Amino acid sequence: MTGYTSRISGFYRGTVDERLDALTEHAGVAGELRSFFAGGGGLSLEAADRMSENVIGVHGLPLGVALNFLVNGVEHVVPMAIEEASVVAAASNAARMVRESGGFHGHATAAIMTGQVQFDGAPDTDGAAARVMAHRDAILGLGDASIPRMVERGFGCRDLDVRVLDAAEGVVVVHVYVDVGDAMGANMVDTVAEAIAPALHELIGGLIGLRILSNLPSRRRVSVRCDVSDSALGGTAVADGVARASRFASLDPYRACTHNKGFMNGLDAAAVALGQDWRSIEAGAHAWAATGGGYRPLSTWKRIPGGLRGEAELPLAVGTVGGSTRAHAGVRAAFELLRVRDARQLAVVLASVGLASNLAALRALAGEGIQRGHMRLHHRKAEECAESEAGTWAK
Ligand code: MEV
Repeated sequence: MTGYTSRISGFYRGTVDERLDALTEHAGVAGELRSFFAGGGGLSLEAADRMSENVIGVHGLPLGVALNFLVNGVEHVVPMAIEEASVVAAASNAARMVRESGGFHGHATAAIMTGQVQFDGAPDTDGAAARVMAHRDAILGLGDASIPRMVERGFGCRDLDVRVLDAAEGVVVVHVYVDVGDAMGANMVDTVAEAIAPALHELIGGLIGLRILSNLPSRRRVSVRCDVSDSALGGTAVADGVARASRFASLDPYRACTHNKGFMNGLDAAAVALGQDWRSIEAGAHAWAATGGGYRPLSTWKRIPGGLRGEAELPLAVGTVGGSTRAHAGVRAAFELLRVRDARQLAVVLASVGLASNLAALRALAGEGIQRGHMRLHHRKAEECAESEAGTWAK
């Protein structure tokens, strides 16, 4: 293998075998890893049967790789599982343009997940917050006691918050914030919420309701940005068009929804390949887009001298340990290919893929429109003819 790089020219032109050869050379895909990719996804029927219920088989999706990703100065070959044509090529193409201006830059907060404990019919909602906060440390300690192995590793319960949702009906919800490290963390947070509920009940009264994580982990956020030059995009008119498209999304929820769908296209595809809970990712992203009143775009593109700056921020609960990262050999292989150190780096890479997908879509929409290139790609796929450089909306 030469040095690991995501910049592999002519990759799309090869056969599947030739692409795997190229990954062997540039991204260390060899031996067992190669057979997982080529051999149907790395999920045996036995493993599938252990993962879910009433299993009768294994569902397949095309697995591709997005190239050209440089994120915080680090190369990443990004595995993507998706049935929609163009998404992988589009993300790769946008990442190539962004790379010319230094790639993507981002930051993820610590992995602070939110658990909720609900109370109904609480007698004194006015005093609830003060009573709970007076016992804050003891309650966090009870939570920590329910996840001792995480606490040993330096993670655990961090904070509480008390919210009165309906004073007349005595509806109070307590948020518990848990640092789940490199896990997605749902099970851990549910365990903590259940563990602290009886103590909270003594302080709040009423009826204990739900004890479950929130899929809007607003304290576990990732932010990414990138610059792209007018010339890389194909001229000032295209760059102006992308900025105008971004403004459209910020003015109109009907457009913002589609804008966000385009952003999530790439993020979800990578999340699926990497065995993440994409339902929770989707729920969190759209709920975040809707906080603060209206429904907003997850990303914006603004003019800067000579180009555009793209920025995005969203909550992202993704993990590098637990769940199918352990149970699914194909997911383990996808992680070996991607090379992320921890869950925070994974979040930054995934959000960068979202920004790349979003840029590619807006560039196509602001230019020749989506249909021409899209249909060309569909025809290409159908006829298995050679792809031309200028051929798809992905380009
Ligand atoms: C199609 O999957 C995604 C787009 O509709 C996104 C967008 O309109 O920005 C092209």
